[in-house]
Amino acid sequence: MHPPSLAAAARRILLGNLRRGVASWNGQEYSFVCPSLRSYPFQWFWDSCFHAIALIHLDTVQARAELTTLLRAAQPSGFIPHLVFWEMEKQPQFLRRNLVAQTSPYFSATIQPPIIACAVERVYQATGDVAFRDAALPPLIAYYRWLRDFRDPDGDGLIAIIQPEESGIDCSPKYDELLGLTELSNAGFIAALRKVYAAYAPLRGDDLAILAADVFHVEDVLVNTIYALGMRSLSRLLGAAPEAAEFAREADKTRDALLAKCWDEQAGAFFDLAGVAETPVSVVTISSLMPLALEDLPRPIVRRLVEQWLTSPQHFWLPYPLPSVPASDPRFLPGDPHGFIWRGPTWMNTNWFLARALRQHGYPELADVIVARSRELVEKSGFREYYHPYTGEGLGARDFGWSTLVLDM
Ligand code: GLC
Repeated sequence: MHPPSLAAAARRILLGNLRRGVASWNGQEYSFVCPSLRSYPFQWFWDSCFHAIALIHLDTVQARAELTTLLRAAQPSGFIPHLVFWEMEKQPQFLRRNLVAQTSPYFSATIQPPIIACAVERVYQATGDVAFRDAALPPLIAYYRWLRDFRDPDGDGLIAIIQPEESGIDCSPKYDELLGLTELSNAGFIAALRKVYAAYAPLRGDDLAILAADVFHVEDVLVNTIYALGMRSLSRLLGAAPEAAEFAREADKTRDALLAKCWDEQAGAFFDLAGVAETPVSVVTISSLMPLALEDLPRPIVRRLVEQWLTSPQHFWLPYPLPSVPASDPRFLPGDPHGFIWRGPTWMNTNWFLARALRQHGYPELADVIVARSRELVEKSGFREYYHPYTGEGLGARDFGWSTLVLDM
């Protein structure tokens, strides 16, 4: 079990970041944990899923409320936004700065890694709450079908993202070239994002037209790994229902496409595909390791990723693993990035995925090291947004929600 102090500290963050009320714009009740009161005071899609998983260990009523609230943001098309502004009064300034809204003032028109079915499955397993599961299933089915129908125009099983924040690893160097970044800083990134949004302005709300415009079209390895995991969870949640086979089949298809199209045998890593032309982006980042989270990844590929990259002190095996970018990349930035994030520091959510992945592939001792170091990070530096991979110093937002995932590790 968790030492009481760690659990108590996590509870303080999660319940301290709780936002509750009735939205003035749609009359719906909301109850969710925002990632950070100061830096991120809204509901974020994948953060909420991670919060729900951490809350399983603290407050299962809130774990359910978190996901129920997110599912209430589902649109008639099936789409679920990456950001929901339940509290309207807070958002205008934020929008001007971040340019996330496209079709509605109340939520973003973008996605985040589709992990929601995994979170629903975990909460259902922990609570046995059949009513919760049954209420979640129709919006989940509609959501994963929306992703397939509106984000996979070539029908290969890999969904595409239309801007870098959709992957949740916003400023990863793997997008530099595609974004045409000239200035390697947060300001440079925002300027590039602004250009992407300007190109999309006339196409607002038409995802297929946006993808066809080929401005930022990335079949992203991290996103598609999570897409496959989500559909696998959904298929299990559906049990004997007729749709179960559909999502099992789609999950297989996505896995097979990752192997056929994104695995680079020479490099020994998975790479994103850029553009309608599907040009591999040969930049190794934490995303290249993410397919380890697939339970049926072929053994030789598992070994290659673990031996060549993950456990190499030159690349990912640093004092506080796993950095978001290998230390061998000339752009690796281990310290305070001043907003230019996902370019070096260690994050708790990717550690959560990869520690589980290592355990499932028969590397319990490596998983144990990641878990022990992750815990050390929190004990030493608190629940921060990300951490320095050499010193363990806490960086970015304070009292950051998803670092409480350490409870689930
Ligand atoms: C940053 C992260 C993103 C996260 C958001 C809120 O933008 O890159 O993944 O969802 O903050 O925590």
